[in-house]
Amino acid sequence: MSGQIAPPVLRTVGLTKAFGGLIAVKSVDFEVPAGSITSLIGPNGAGKTTLFNVVAGLYEPTEGHIEFLGNRVIAAPERGWLEPLLWILPPFATWALTYVVASMGGSDNLVQVLILLGLGLLITTLITAVIRPAWYGKFLTRLGIFKTARPNDMVTAGLGRTFQNIRLFANMTALENVLVGMHSRLKASPLDALLRTRQQVLEEATSAAEGRRLLGFVGLVGRDGELARNLPYGDQRRLEIARALATRPKLLLLDEPTAGMNPSETAAMMTLFGRIKTELGLPILLIEHDMRVVMGISDGITVIDHGEKIAEGTPAEVRANSRVIEAYLGKGAV
Ligand SMILES: Nc1ncnc2c1ncn2[C@@H]1O[C@H](COP(=O)(O)OP(=O)(O)OP(=O)(O)O)[C@@H](O)[C@H]1O
Ligand SMILES: [Mg+2]
Repeated sequence: MSGQIAPPVLRTVGLTKAFGGLIAVKSVDFEVPAGSITSLIGPNGAGKTTLFNVVAGLYEPTEGHIEFLGNRVIAAPERGWLEPLLWILPPFATWALTYVVASMGGSDNLVQVLILLGLGLLITTLITAVIRPAWYGKFLTRLGIFKTARPNDMVTAGLGRTFQNIRLFANMTALENVLVGMHSRLKASPLDALLRTRQQVLEEATSAAEGRRLLGFVGLVGRDGELARNLPYGDQRRLEIARALATRPKLLLLDEPTAGMNPSETAAMMTLFGRIKTELGLPILLIEHDMRVVMGISDGITVIDHGEKIAEGTPAEVRANSRVIEAYLGKGAV
């Protein structure tokens, strides 16, 4: 409805992550508003990457939870012990029925069918539990059983990310790296690939075309056949972004994407972030140390120090905040 403010894409509520005695993230509440570039800044070791990793489902929070697109997705699991009961309930009910039918003198054929049915149900529930389709997750939530999202669940839900240390498939080409990003939403099965069915051939061609389009979008026109490890450092960073975009995310998490870049490469990256926001309409959560980047493109900034949120606001507000100046920016920055 017009006039209504869109709900935030991401929200952390009282998020805490401890590694043994070390509390890396302390009760952080913050939001990434829809359509925004929100930056997370703070000194080395402040807990920024840890916060990213919790959001991405790599770590379970010690306390608090995360809401993505309005749904609670990550928190410490609740009533997990109930789930195995759900797996064995349908087959055991069937076998109990088998017992009743057999003791009432039912036909052998019926008894055999019921035994097989119970076995089939057991296998189906176990396979469902391993694959965890979306409807199964919703069903568990409705029963009050909460299982924290895994990294692949978060990718499927719409979270794309890059890493502080580049993690590409070094011996694959640029295009193949992007195709890996698309994998989670391709429909052709391994059998389709083996038989080279029409669907598989078509999907392969469309994926390759989309992969090249994405490489072009991030500024890697014509580099699709090059091995990732042979690309210059700045281009590897761009390739990571193309791979994240290939998952068709609804939020992009970038961990220090301009680290180690020269000023002109950094400026080009800033232009790319702006285009991701305006042309793709994709919100970005950015960890960044370069204050020209942060102050130049952020709609909002959250500052953390020793795991705690110490300030948030617009670039102008954060730049003028005395706690931020003391903890991070230093007197020379203002
Ligand atoms: N897996 C881990 N096990 C134990 N301690 C960890 C782990 N990951 C991070 N830490 C610690 O948590 C704290 C926060 O680290 P984190 O990497 O999140 O900081 P950061 O803000 O990303 O720093 P930087 O700007 O240097 O990347 C640090 O003290 C770090 O040593
Ligand atoms: Mg970090």
